[in-house]
Amino acid sequence: MSQTAAPTSSVDSLEVKDNRTGKVFTLPITEGTIRANDLLQLKGPGDETGLRAYDPAFLNTASCRSAITYIDGDNGILRYRGYPIEQLAEKSTFLEVAWLLRHGELPTQTEYNEWVHHITYHTYVHENVKRFLEGFRYDAHPMSMLCSSVAALSAFYPQAHDIHDPEQRNISTIRLIAKLPTLAAFAYRHAKGLPIIYPDNDLTYVENFLSMVARMSEPKYEANPVFTRALEILFILHADHEQNCSTNAVRAVGSSHVDPFSAVAAGIAALFGPLHGGANEAVLHMIKEIEHPKNIPAFIEQVKTGKGETKLMGFGHRVYKSYDPRAKIVKKLADEVFAQVGMDKDLEIALELERIALSDDYFIKRKLYPNVDFYTGLIYRSMAFPTDFFTVLFAVARTAGWLAQWEEMLLDKEQKIARPRQIYTGYAERKYEPKITDRFPGVHNKDPLRK
Ligand code: CMC
Repeated sequence: MSQTAAPTSSVDSLEVKDNRTGKVFTLPITEGTIRANDLLQLKGPGDETGLRAYDPAFLNTASCRSAITYIDGDNGILRYRGYPIEQLAEKSTFLEVAWLLRHGELPTQTEYNEWVHHITYHTYVHENVKRFLEGFRYDAHPMSMLCSSVAALSAFYPQAHDIHDPEQRNISTIRLIAKLPTLAAFAYRHAKGLPIIYPDNDLTYVENFLSMVARMSEPKYEANPVFTRALEILFILHADHEQNCSTNAVRAVGSSHVDPFSAVAAGIAALFGPLHGGANEAVLHMIKEIEHPKNIPAFIEQVKTGKGETKLMGFGHRVYKSYDPRAKIVKKLADEVFAQVGMDKDLEIALELERIALSDDYFIKRKLYPNVDFYTGLIYRSMAFPTDFFTVLFAVARTAGWLAQWEEMLLDKEQKIARPRQIYTGYAERKYEPKITDRFPGVHNKDPLRK
């Protein structure tokens, strides 16, 4: 018996036989995928629901259709809206790329001028946000400060909750891209115990950020042009990367129709982890731990025999199974920055780690190549950013991609609130038989732990 989910040619379809029932099903294949819901028609005896796909960590599941970023992981290709990352890094600016990601086309000069003007004039934050940040301890991690202050902005812009209004989406997008550098720089100054530097509307996006971070008593900040261009390129490289952990977080949280400040805060939280954006910070910690090039062979041995417990941070990628195209650009950029500040022992360790990893069977077999985070940390450190600030720089740039992905998700008629299924592995029903006798210990001065 043959059943068909939808009319389809026999070429672009999958024929499956359910051995539990002997029934054969033809599932359409479109864009290299089958619809997971088409599996529901495969029902075993006594199975009301139908067959489901089990895919922890989304190893082989497309959660959306997207026209923003294209990655070919086998061939090391990354494109934003069709434009190769190498061309954008060489010729574009971060704000032009942010526009491109959101609108799908490069801006005209008039569109660009207006966009830059709006971003520039929304860089200030409410004074109470400053006081909110002052409440953190001196040793607060800047990613925690950034995450909470972006979430707090949701309370400052209640209109942003109207995500169905295109004007609200537009102004929220402008506000987020404009204010992220301000919040990031405030977090930096707080950690250093330095006074806040307000935005300077005469400067470019990147120059203004560097000014808010580094300006001291000089009336006007003059950024080092090599550092400014390096940071501009790093922001372009980090602006989007299709369905990674943090983008998935933004889409999933945004799918509840919460405001974009809250959704982006979820993305920042996801980015904080060492397996994701936190890897640039982890690379530096790893290099510090290795301490000297002579200790590298022992460290590599530890990685190879540690059964995944010790990782070569900044290596490997879920999608890229060849050289990360961003890492190639970053390596070249690193040479330019190091030409300004000089080579040091840490860079020597990094270069040697890369050389060994690219020639060692363990890494070759597993297709572990340097990813974007391997060299970015070293560049950031050369520019005198503290280690715990590296992921903040990533977050500032990725905000452009998160917002483009968030809006694409909202406008996609096929999307609904994200709600995965599970395979329940717990107890069957059982009777409640308490092991405690006092349900409210501590009340009425009966705290059993108090002497
Ligand atoms: N060092 C040593 N071994 C590794 C590494 C590494 N960096 N990455 C993966 N492996 C091994 C892993 O132990 C496994 O070995 P085996 O087959 O013997 O069990 C094999 O390679 C496959 O790894 P996986 O864990 O299945 O790969 P994944 O796709 O789940 O993980 C990853 C991808 C990026 C989380 C992982 O490669 C990793 O932890 N890398 C280090 C952290 C890092 O640099 N993260 C930044 C990613 S790029 C920026 C971003 O997008 O956030």
